[in-house]
Order: sequence, then C-alpha cells, then structure tokens
Amino acid sequence: MVKKEWIEKGFADEPIADTINLKEAIRQLAKEKNAIIMAHYYTEPDVQDIADFVGDSLALAQYAAKTDASIIVMCGVHFMGETNKILCPDKTVLVPDLNASCSLAESCPADAFEQFVKAHPGHTVISYVNTTAAIKALTDVVVTSGNARQIVESMPKDEKIIFGPDQNLGGYINSITGREMVLWNGACHVHEKFSVERIIALKKQYPEAKILVHPECKGPVVKLADKVGSTAALLKFAIADATDTFIVATESGILHKMQQACPQKTFIPAPPDDSTCACNECNYMKLINLRKLYNCLKYEWPQIEVEEKVAQQAVKSINRMLEISERLGI
Ligand code: 13P
Ligand code: SF4
Repeated sequence: MVKKEWIEKGFADEPIADTINLKEAIRQLAKEKNAIIMAHYYTEPDVQDIADFVGDSLALAQYAAKTDASIIVMCGVHFMGETNKILCPDKTVLVPDLNASCSLAESCPADAFEQFVKAHPGHTVISYVNTTAAIKALTDVVVTSGNARQIVESMPKDEKIIFGPDQNLGGYINSITGREMVLWNGACHVHEKFSVERIIALKKQYPEAKILVHPECKGPVVKLADKVGSTAALLKFAIADATDTFIVATESGILHKMQQACPQKTFIPAPPDDSTCACNECNYMKLINLRKLYNCLKYEWPQIEVEEKVAQQAVKSINRMLEISERLGI
C-alpha cells in the first residue's frame, strides 16, 4: 500500500531492517517479479553493480525496446523512465525516486518549445533524449549523444533543422557536420561547470594523459579533448586506447565502470570551476540508491505514467531514432 507521505516525498520511504542483505533481497525480488534492473553509468557504483544492464541513454532505450520482462526498473533519471514507458506501454516502468529529474530536460518547457518550433516553420525538429515526453511529442527525431552526428548527417545537407535543448551538444554537432541547426539554449548543470584552466593544469601535471569529454560540455572544454563521445563511447575508447591515464570530463559516475574495466589504468575526474563543490556529480542521478531500489521493487512504486495522447506522438520520434540507428548499425 503506497503511503500518502511517500507520494509527497516521491519515493517509497519504508524503513528497512539492518538484517536484510539488500543486494540479495533486490535480486530475489527482481527474479520473483520478472523485473529487469537497468542503470545509467552516472548512478552510484553499488546500483550499477546490481543492475542487469548498465548503459548510455541509447543503449538503455535499445535494451528496453527489446526486453520481455514484465517490470522495468530504470535506475536513472525521470526522462529515461518515460522513454522506457513510451516504448513499452504495457509494462510496468519504475524509477526509484521521482525527484530524479534532469536540469537539461528542465531547461526546455514544452509550451516555450512549441512556440520556438512554430517560429521556425519548415524546420525538422531534432531533440536530444534528455527531454520530457511532451517535448518528444513535438519532435521529428530524437537523438542521443551516441548517434546525434550520424542522424544529422543522414539528413539532406540543405535540410533546415531545429535542435534542442542542449546548446553545447547542438553547437558541437554543427561544428563537426558544417550544419547550421537553430539551437535551443539549454544546458546541463554538471557539464557546463568543467574548468578549461583546471583541466589544462591537470594535463601539465599528467602530460601523457588523454582527455575524454562528453559533448554536453562547453565548446572550449570540447576543444581540449582527445575523444568526444557519449558515456559508452568514452568507456570504449578508454578500454581500447593504449594510454594508461585519462582525464574524464563528464559526470564522475562513469569512472566506476572505467576503473572496473581497466583496473591498471588511472582515471582522473576533470575538475569543475568551483573547487569547493562536487559539481561533477549529477545530484539527480545520485538520488537513486539500493534502499529506494529495494522499496520500489517491493511496492512496485513509483511507476512512470505518460499521458496516452503524448505517448502516441512521442513514440514516433523515439522509434525513428531507433530505426535510423539500426539502419546505420549504431
Ligand atoms: P549518455 O547518453 O552519453 O549516457 O548521456 C546521458 C546524459 O545524461 C549525459 O549527461
Ligand atoms: Fe541531466 Fe546533466 Fe544529470 Fe545528465 S548529468 S542526467 S544531462 S542533469
């Protein structure tokens, strides 16, 4: 029974006895309920370690679209749960804490974006996956940082395009494709904060280090990169490259998988502008923990719901992304 106070809090806040082995209990519940647990690379290490599948936004959507589980638990942020629910309307989709939002998704309110779209007639609308379902319903094709370049390049050179909400990712794609997409001016509160000066200082300290940068970072940080890519692409590069030291300019949760995959290599989180805060952590992703995961599986709450009319529109732009990605072998 879901308590009123939980609804106010946004997660099932049931005390859990210390005697319970949380990891075993979560795996047991997942088995009994035919649930799969998916996690994004930015979640806490113990959440990643217990998941059936850990991936970047693209891989998570691709995985959800193919699962035959009855319940999907998305250990990540709200828009990731929404994407899963839109792709799997008949399944129960859970996100352990409804407060796990995304500053980038929040930087793009649907009514203002609709006006932006109307102000640019004849433009194809491309939206980053870090958006609400309502924005996806206004979109022609969704992209992630793992396929944005290829999807934009798959369109005719003279196609007029609106790109939202991340102005940094959009600016980067413009710079590498020569397009002039019209950009919405949103940004992520984590990726905006990396300091060019402090990364350069680190590079002086570790001259052999390669710099890995997520394209949500600002242009001057992207310019320092040896590799720009999605979380999965940065991980793949770190595994394959012969270098043994990397400076990583993205949310620090990815360092867990990098270190697991390459125990002999050194991964240094890129520093933010403000040395006094843990600004390279996504406070939304870090809301997900084993306790909330256990309770959400036990009570099958909080569930993600998407209004049917919105979902019917949004699924088209998500499916278009999945179809193009499959065709291009991404
Ligand atoms: P990825 O698609 O690279 O995993 O990025 C998701 C995200 O939220 C980046 O901030
Ligand atoms: Fe959103 Fe930024 Fe967190 Fe990614 S790191 S989920 S873009 S707030």
